[in-house]
Amino acid sequence: MSTAGGAPQQAPVPDARALPVPAGLREITAARPAVFEAEVTARRPLGGRGVLLSAYARGVAVVLRPGEFLTARAWPGLDPLLRRPLAPFDVQLEAGGTRIDLLLLAGGRGTRLLAALEPGERLSLLGPLGRPFSPPRPGRLHVLVGGGVGIAPLHHLAREACAADSRIRLQAVIGARTAALLFGADELQALGVPLTLATEQGDRGLCGTAIEALEQLLERLPEPPLLYGCGPEGMLLALVRLARARGLGGEVSLERHMACGFGVCYTCACRVIEPDGAVRRVRSCLAGPVFPIAALPEDGW
Ligand SMILES: Cc1cc2nc3c(=O)[nH]c(=O)nc-3n(C[C@H](O)[C@H](O)[C@H](O)COP(=O)(O)OP(=O)(O)OC[C@H]3O[C@@H](n4cnc5c(N)ncnc54)[C@H](O)[C@@H]3O)c2cc1C
Ligand code: FES
Repeated sequence: MSTAGGAPQQAPVPDARALPVPAGLREITAARPAVFEAEVTARRPLGGRGVLLSAYARGVAVVLRPGEFLTARAWPGLDPLLRRPLAPFDVQLEAGGTRIDLLLLAGGRGTRLLAALEPGERLSLLGPLGRPFSPPRPGRLHVLVGGGVGIAPLHHLAREACAADSRIRLQAVIGARTAALLFGADELQALGVPLTLATEQGDRGLCGTAIEALEQLLERLPEPPLLYGCGPEGMLLALVRLARARGLGGEVSLERHMACGFGVCYTCACRVIEPDGAVRRVRSCLAGPVFPIAALPEDGW
């Protein structure tokens, strides 16, 4: 993928793509997305309306790179009509199939139905779709900046990077309104990733936003890091502006509304700066959802 803006592009670490697919499994990749079923094996309620679902897709090897997404439905009939896009919290090959962890915030109708699934119930998944984050580079310092459920693909990236190469240096900044909504903090800590937390209500970590916490962290870091971001649009806009002001590179994953997820409907259109400097509209589900920071206009997309 494009790596403008100083995003990592050399010496990529081996990632899940390089792992041999166990014999007997049907391989599903972004080059050949497919519809497949998975059974919920565990449901962990988190703070607020957050839920971590584990699902097991039997008989398939889903090779999904961090940042790529699936679209999900778990209801009969056509109401709601549309699948919901989700970037998994983790994806791991297991004996006989693939385990897929989904971090859900029960918001509108579709995410509420998905978040209410119980062990034994099934969901239909379509993917992998979109373009992933570039793999982090050994020796470089990377800071993951996540807001709310935006931490999901960043956790996936961190878990794979930690498993792939101990020379990859990661830190994470997680922001949320309240401590209960600081998703992924325990899991990143368990991976050994140094964390900076921020809550707008001040009940855990710094009192303020993830970007204010990032600004403070940057003062203490020994070198300019590469940034990986995912979260609400306001947070990502502030991240892009901060990165530009400081000359930092990296990538962010946009959570645009998506109706189809594969290039047909144009609901996900956003403005990006092309290499020739022109601003053009692209479909986030095809050209993204991950974009180089340098490609995102500072006045919004
Ligand atoms: C790449 C990506 C990854 C994501 N990852 C996660 C995740 O890991 N966890 C999580 O909780 N959320 C995630 N989201 C957000 C999640 O998909 C949204 O919360 C969801 O789409 C909104 O659905 P809902 O059922 O909550 O709300 P509802 O209000 O019921 O759904 C709105 C639905 O209608 C669609 N829609 C809205 N406006 C229009 C329009 N004008 N025309 C056509 N369709 C429209 C939306 O795309 C959505 O599908 C992600 C989104 C993207 C794009
Ligand atoms: S979601 Fe339909 S074109 Fe991108």
